[in-house]
Amino acid sequence: MQEQSRQRPGQMSLGAVLSPTTAHIAGWRHPDAVSNAGATFDFYRHAAETAEAAKLDFVFLADELCAPEAPPELMSLDPLMYRYEPITLTSALAVSTQRIGIVVTQTTTYNEPYHIARKLASIDHLSNGRLGWNLVTSYVEAEAKNFNLSEHARYADRYARAAEFFEVAAGLWDSWDDDAFVLDKESGRYFDPAKMHQLNHKGEHFTVAGPLNVRRSPQGRPVLVQAGASEPGLDLAARLAETTFTAQRTLESGQAYYRDLKGRMVAYGRSPESLRVIAGVFPIVGGTMEEAQRKYDELQELILPQIGLARLSQLIGFDVTELPLDAPLPDVIPETNSYQSRQQLIVEMARRENLTLRELYLKVVTAYGHRTVVGTPETVADALEEWWHGHAADGFMVMPPTLPAGIDDFTAGVVPELRRRGLFRDDYEGDTLRSHLGLERPERGAPLPPRRG
Ligand SMILES: Cc1cc2nc3c(=O)[nH]c(=O)nc-3n(C[C@H](O)[C@H](O)[C@H](O)COP(=O)(O)O)c2cc1C
Repeated sequence: MQEQSRQRPGQMSLGAVLSPTTAHIAGWRHPDAVSNAGATFDFYRHAAETAEAAKLDFVFLADELCAPEAPPELMSLDPLMYRYEPITLTSALAVSTQRIGIVVTQTTTYNEPYHIARKLASIDHLSNGRLGWNLVTSYVEAEAKNFNLSEHARYADRYARAAEFFEVAAGLWDSWDDDAFVLDKESGRYFDPAKMHQLNHKGEHFTVAGPLNVRRSPQGRPVLVQAGASEPGLDLAARLAETTFTAQRTLESGQAYYRDLKGRMVAYGRSPESLRVIAGVFPIVGGTMEEAQRKYDELQELILPQIGLARLSQLIGFDVTELPLDAPLPDVIPETNSYQSRQQLIVEMARRENLTLRELYLKVVTAYGHRTVVGTPETVADALEEWWHGHAADGFMVMPPTLPAGIDDFTAGVVPELRRRGLFRDDYEGDTLRSHLGLERPERGAPLPPRRG
């Protein structure tokens, strides 16, 4: 059942974000957008089917455990006011698609490992091995208030809990040998007790007996995806992640991130090929450059300054809503407990490009600051190819600018162009997400790399 692992496969990975209102803060307002797309399961099914028909590796569901925190008047301008609970949505997609992987976000800060291990193993079964887990530590501080707390846990504590959380989940997923369930009608023996492994974990954050009451799943365990880029985030990724998401915006910073992460993996005794780096990209695709630029301008003009500043404040963990629009960021931005790596990325960009607040929010509330590429299918493919050949990414996660047209534009225009260049598959080679990403199925009981320091 071991699937073939490829040495940095000759082809890139592609995923698509399924967001209720697109990653662009005003995407829902565009004349081409179905403004309530994300409120209907039919939309998600259609988008996942479109991505699957184009042979994408996975679709991705982000999550936050709270509504945006702001005064009601301002909140009323933020489209991310509702989203489906993503495990529920993943279960529905697991049975309405056949081949495409599904990566679902779950936080380790406001969950318990037994719950998560059980739910994710169940969906890995329901989907016949197509699940990935985007492990997050919750960057939105307001989540704490929905979980009996007045304050969000500190960075280092969140990541320490996350590491132990994953160790427990991995232990629970190893509760059973693959062939433990003998189902011997004659003797009445349902499973072989020698093939059951009790966890008995006692750690700093968790005490969990096990075993998991779900048998070992098709992938052994879901693919572990992680997107932290701070020191503790990178450390966790280097030790445990099998795929990372990154928001790097320039080729050089993408290459630096890629090198850094893969180098850290070696220090943990891991092969750099056992992790895929996936860069977020926000593509605006047009038949001509002019058409693409027009689509982009139309979207940008729809961003209201109040909500632009509010989203920017959330992303940098510093309130800029009362500051003058045409002045630069203040010289001192205090360190945040919310999203350190994104704060750093955005503040550096503002200083480097000498941007006013208006110019800054226009850049970063487009797709949360991910790299934006405006062009024809050929030039968008060029932009992805450059990062692929430049070892800045092993693949890309596409954030459609409008729904449902954004997914259609990418799959109908850019994917065939990548295929023509031999950069993307013609068809799926296997059935599991691990197979799409070229990742091995873990051996049951194989130890995780030990923590360092
Ligand atoms: C592409 C991408 C998607 C992400 N999705 C989520 C998400 O759905 N929910 C969440 O809480 N954090 C999400 N994050 C944030 C990271 O998980 C992480 O919390 C954040 O990068 C802060 O940690 P850091 O400072 O270590 O980078 C995402 C990050 C990236 C780059």
